[in-house]
Amino acid sequence: MKKKLLFIGPPGAGKGTQANLFCTKYKVDHFSTGDLLRDEVSSGSELGLKVAEVMNKGELVSDELVLSIVQGRLINTKNGWLLDGFPRNVNQANSLTKLLEKINQPLEAVISIKIPDIYLIKRLLARGREDDNEEVIANRLKIYREKTSPLIDFYSKQGILVDIDGNADIDVVFSCIQKALG
Ligand code: AP5
Repeated sequence: MKKKLLFIGPPGAGKGTQANLFCTKYKVDHFSTGDLLRDEVSSGSELGLKVAEVMNKGELVSDELVLSIVQGRLINTKNGWLLDGFPRNVNQANSLTKLLEKINQPLEAVISIKIPDIYLIKRLLARGREDDNEEVIANRLKIYREKTSPLIDFYSKQGILVDIDGNADIDVVFSCIQKALG
């Protein structure tokens, strides 16, 4: 089973849901930059307040901050890692490539979860997180298209990208992912 992984997809595609299932079953470290940033917000720190402002608009927080969050954690992994929500633009992807070269842990596969917008919006509105309202979802989708989706081509050219249909039951999607990584 491949265990140095990246899950990519639009907001609501099911990255977090599938990453949790995979990491629990295969004992891999799960790094969700969204969750790590929400932890910072919950801590009530000064940084957390600034981060909350950005997240609540559906914008991206700075590359430097996100990279610093991921870097220290990746270095200390033992049984593999799964990045969920990072990288989110070409600059972050280039930084990740450099970091992985430095620690000699090449990325083994990128799972790209695909699903039409109409279903994403329904899922997110039903979840109702702080950044799950129509206006912010529209901005998150716009940013995904502009900044994150070019990474699909970036990793496809490296021959490590696998497309997964995210518009199916959670266990069906999980089976497809396991098959793709097995
Ligand atoms: P982040 O937390 O990464 O949010 P996101 O990418 O918008 O993703 P979501 O958590 O909304 O969706 P998901 O694909 O994980 O789906 P999930 O499994 O939760 O980022 C939030 C913010 O943090 C960003 O906007 C940005 O500000 C900042 N940020 C994070 N990373 C950053 C970075 N690298 N650089 C800069 N800024 C960064 O599922 C969604 C819902 O659907 C759930 O309710 C779930 O139960 C349901 N669901 C899942 N799968 C299915 C299914 N198959 N069928 C039915 N329902 C399903």
